Amino acid sequence: MPVYLDHNSTTPLDERVLASMLPYMQELYGNASSQHRYGRLTSGAVERAREQVAALVGAKPNQVVFTGGGTEANNLALRALCGRKPGGHLAISSIEHASLREPAFALREEGWSVDEIPVTRDGVIDSVALPAAMHSDTRVVSVMLANNETGAIQPLAEISAIAHKRNVPVHTDASQAAGKLPVDLVKLGADLMTLSAHKFGGPQGAGALIVNRALSLQPLLYGGGHEQGLRAGTHNVAAIVGFGTAAELAHHELEARIRHMRQIRNLIQDELLKNPEISVFADKVERLSNTLQFGVYGCHGETLLLELDRKGFAVSSGSACHSDAHEPSHVLLAMQVEPELALSAIRVSVGMSTQDEDAIKFVAALNTILAQFRRTSVRVANIK
Ligand SMILES: Cc1ncc(COP(=O)(O)O)c(C=O)c1O
Repeated sequence: MPVYLDHNSTTPLDERVLASMLPYMQELYGNASSQHRYGRLTSGAVERAREQVAALVGAKPNQVVFTGGGTEANNLALRALCGRKPGGHLAISSIEHASLREPAFALREEGWSVDEIPVTRDGVIDSVALPAAMHSDTRVVSVMLANNETGAIQPLAEISAIAHKRNVPVHTDASQAAGKLPVDLVKLGADLMTLSAHKFGGPQGAGALIVNRALSLQPLLYGGGHEQGLRAGTHNVAAIVGFGTAAELAHHELEARIRHMRQIRNLIQDELLKNPEISVFADKVERLSNTLQFGVYGCHGETLLLELDRKGFAVSSGSACHSDAHEPSHVLLAMQVEPELALSAIRVSVGMSTQDEDAIKFVAALNTILAQFRRTSVRVANIK
């Protein structure tokens, strides 16, 4: 199998997580809303997972609303705060994931206005620009905690303080941050926070919106009153149990994980920076310890990705959840990266299974491909 260097897209399911899920796919199959013993066994497991997920981000268990993943939690966050009646304003960062941008733009179609808060050239929210992005009718400021492409960590506590001065609630998409860096809901001051289980060893299709209960919120899905009326639908018990186990493991192992991933990421980065053709994005600011995004002038990211795949390395060109081969990443454009360089972007995201030799082999393969490109003059102009 190829060396997997795409952990921001998804992580392998931790085998301890799988072991905790299996009983809920076999003998413990009760509906968690049922009153009998089968139901009590599974609802007990859901409540334990709620405690584990809450503990990961310094929240209270009753603040956790389980969803079918980060995308649903982001959609719910915006709809929950905006309600059904059109009118009003949303301020979102210019580097949000598609699962936040697109529901915001859909609300614009319904009559809401949306502004994008600019970032600096290093990919960090320009907090000086934030007050101007808020209006008297702003319903939410939404800024992700760590960017999925560059890994840049955003100054969320500062953003929350600015927004709260104007009584505007703050949502943060912490899908890439949770399980990879310490996250404390209270210190960050966020009112709503999105989590996704499969970004840190949990199953795909499980996530949560952490909710400050003082807000008046609208559900996205109606029918059944589950999750305190905010997310109807029979609980996916096995996935929720896996999410809880993954959260507990990440909480306990966080420091060791950060150390391991940073050491390997830095090994790759130090080697790449020896090549003057390569630019590493957001390398001057605090980033997720596992993430590295770079561009090579004149190369096409998709071509590079396919060559790396052929040589046995799985990486991503920007955001794998929403990749369009011929559009430069909106994140890099927001950072004022030249479109040609943005088109060459490759994201490497390492994980707990990545080893030093994987990093060394990756750099060697990349250098071989770039040398080959130089010889055959494979350049953007030739590929278009
Ligand atoms: C920042 C960010 N938010 C949200 C999501 C979507 O999460 P999910 O895959 O759980 O729907 C992703 C997935 O890549 C992401 O990177």
